[in-house]
Amino acid sequence: MDTNDLQNLKNHAIADILNCENEAELEEVRVKLLGAKGDITQTVKSIGKLPNEERKAIGQAVNETLQIIKNELANKKISFTDKKEVDTWFDPTLPGCKPQTGHLHLITQTIHEIQTVFERIGFNRERYREVEYDYYAFGALNFPDNHPARDDWETFFVDIKPDSQKGAMLLTPHTSSGQIREMEAKKPPIRMINIAKTYRRQSDVSHTAMFHQFEGLVIDEGINIRHLKGTLDYFAKSFFGVTSKSRIRPYHFMFTEPSFEVDFSCSICNGIGCSLCKEGWVEVGGAGMVHPNVLSAGGIDSQKYSGFAFGWGVERVLMMRPGVGIPDLRILYSTGLNYLQQF
Ligand code: PHE
Repeated sequence: MDTNDLQNLKNHAIADILNCENEAELEEVRVKLLGAKGDITQTVKSIGKLPNEERKAIGQAVNETLQIIKNELANKKISFTDKKEVDTWFDPTLPGCKPQTGHLHLITQTIHEIQTVFERIGFNRERYREVEYDYYAFGALNFPDNHPARDDWETFFVDIKPDSQKGAMLLTPHTSSGQIREMEAKKPPIRMINIAKTYRRQSDVSHTAMFHQFEGLVIDEGINIRHLKGTLDYFAKSFFGVTSKSRIRPYHFMFTEPSFEVDFSCSICNGIGCSLCKEGWVEVGGAGMVHPNVLSAGGIDSQKYSGFAFGWGVERVLMMRPGVGIPDLRILYSTGLNYLQQF
């Protein structure tokens, strides 16, 4: 017996094993190979008769062959048992298993819905940069250098050398930076809805460091507060239901004049007063007529054109919807699937 013979023996043995069609045939092959008089058994026995120098090398090769053949036999045997189980288990008349499918995140669904509401009245959805220059977030929005009103936005600054013209880089603390980007890119009439991520140093039950805002901007000839109020009412009715109303209260923003805070009638209690709203109204965010200095910064003739703008949180309007019941805003950005899978 040399290594060639051994190779031949192994090849034939494997072929015989693979050709077996049932367990009885396999058992016959097993006996032919490994039984008391089997080919492999004989070969193993013959090692003892070899001269010492050959014994070690051939012995090792024979052992490997033995191992391989035992594995092949075992695998073939499993293939028969597995098949038997599958045959009896498989019932082709049963309905299939429904694969688990995911769905869009609640915030993404809400963004799509807000987008659709505004597209119906001719707004274009835009999405401007989330890493911006101070100029777009504040400077061009009529904030004088070092004005303390910048602090209201609790901004994250990016650790990079400031641009000599456009200043430091930051993570957009509001979507209002998109107003200037839009004016630079387009000419009136403008009807834009900029929905994007915004960032502020905050974290509690109703605030997360990253959140979303949607910013409306309309610029054309003859735009006035009634257009703004009509748009607010339209949104309230479309998003919260037909009985919903909007209310504006005087406020101050650097980039609008006059400026307002916007409230919607509480859709949980229908404006009667409940634990969420106290007296029937819930504040959503800011709005106002675009300041002439902002129009000029955007390259728009403020004598000819006027406009309104508003900016609110996506999470904020979502929280105000009945049935959503968000106990802590941070749950939206956790992997708490028990909550998210409900929607
Ligand atoms: N950007 C303001 C904020 O984040 C909201 C706002 C937008 C106010 C547009 C007026 C006009 O608070």
